[in-house]
Amino acid sequence: MSQTATLKVDDTTYELPIVVGSEGERAIDIRDLRAQSGLVTLDNGYGSTGACESDITFLDGEKGILRHRGYAIEDLAEHATFLEVAYLMIYGELPTEDESASFVSDVTRHSLIHENLRLMFQGFPLQAHPMAILSSTLCGLSVFYEDSFAPADPEHADLTIRRLLGKISTIAAFSYKKSIGQPFTYPDNSLRYAANLLNMLFSVPCEPYDLDPDQAAALDQLLILHADHEQNCSTSTVRLVGSSRANLYASVSAGCCALWGPLHGGANQAVIEMLQKIHDDGGNTEKYVEMAKDRNSDFRLMGFGHRVYKNFDPRARIIKRSCDRVLEKLGVIDPLLEIAMQLETAALEDDFFIERKLYPNVDFYSGILYRALGIPTNMFTVMFAIGRLPGWIAQWKEMITAPDARIGRPRQIYTGPTARRFIPIHKRKGARHRTVGRHEKAPIRG
Ligand code: ACO
Repeated sequence: MSQTATLKVDDTTYELPIVVGSEGERAIDIRDLRAQSGLVTLDNGYGSTGACESDITFLDGEKGILRHRGYAIEDLAEHATFLEVAYLMIYGELPTEDESASFVSDVTRHSLIHENLRLMFQGFPLQAHPMAILSSTLCGLSVFYEDSFAPADPEHADLTIRRLLGKISTIAAFSYKKSIGQPFTYPDNSLRYAANLLNMLFSVPCEPYDLDPDQAAALDQLLILHADHEQNCSTSTVRLVGSSRANLYASVSAGCCALWGPLHGGANQAVIEMLQKIHDDGGNTEKYVEMAKDRNSDFRLMGFGHRVYKNFDPRARIIKRSCDRVLEKLGVIDPLLEIAMQLETAALEDDFFIERKLYPNVDFYSGILYRALGIPTNMFTVMFAIGRLPGWIAQWKEMITAPDARIGRPRQIYTGPTARRFIPIHKRKGARHRTVGRHEKAPIRG
């Protein structure tokens, strides 16, 4: 039965179709609203806006459910490998043994980067943030493969997808080696994906590197847990950039930049920095919980809260278990984990956090686990980007092949000055408080 919503503006009534998703979610389809009425919708931060229909990821933030192509994240994290999950995301089904072998072989054999691209690393300063290196180098890949990135050509797309998955971990590891002044370790195609990444990050030419299979398994699981999260900030960025028919390297590179921010993927780094700060300040977690509640303070408990989860983030639960296992096996006693647990308990019992449904998110524990694996803080978001790559690719592919694909281009409500006469420069008077936005004042100039 088709359903509609009725919108009445002044004396005119508009019938708008209601679209129902496979999990029963409902949306008012406003595609024709502007053409019919001249009206647009306004939704700062897109909290009530569905930007697309998608078959990839279902998440119910109220119930704490996350499924990819119908499979529960808990099952994928326990039973699948990262590259199987990548295949599932991108091609819609879990691979058969043959499909998996061929996909893994293709991705692995694309792990080397062009030597000229490697030279790009020399130009960055030693302390360059690895996210800056990762995003610029990913975009840099596009100049090496100009003959094969026609977005609408499925063969080109498949090749680009394999190249990206193969090369991102090499680029990530090189960006780390660059920042610590060590020689690059080239990929070893005899190793599996996560093991190869650990080897490139931590092995050095002068001594053998003891690769721990449990650590590789923990990293593989972490990558799976980050693989997709429907229309988040970085994924929407990838879709938006890709919608202009920019190539996939450029689109993914833009996604990296969006992920870098501390309110998104950069939160895992921010969590550890916050925990370290609390530790160095004497470990008084209550003081920081109070600061997070204080409206006069900018401080937020990093790793808490989520735009869509109003319940425990299921990924956080899995990471916490893995974290306990790895720390126990390695015999690591991390004082920051102790502070994290105190914060979690304090926040979960505090009315401020309960009323606002602020639970620990995926970033809250992932940083502790990355630390235990020896991954430095400024590499956390890079690891997130490697994990998120299959999701970005799958969402880009879905967007580019959709029958109704068109360039993304939101509208706005203009609130600036209405038409006024141009003033020649010699007649302009400086204003002491020039309004630069609806809420801001520009700094007073001399
Ligand atoms: N600490 C303290 N207060 C918080 C926090 C927090 N971490 N998060 C939200 N709040 C409060 C806000 O102050 C606001 O309170 P108010 O209603 O009294 O004004 C209320 O909760 C709602 O917060 P919003 O910022 O409106 O929620 P939004 O959905 O826009 O933001 C976000 C979500 C950005 C994740 C936010 O919770 C946050 O900043 N968290 C910390 C950063 C973080 O962990 N980011 C990672 C997210 S997961 C990911 O991207 C992979």
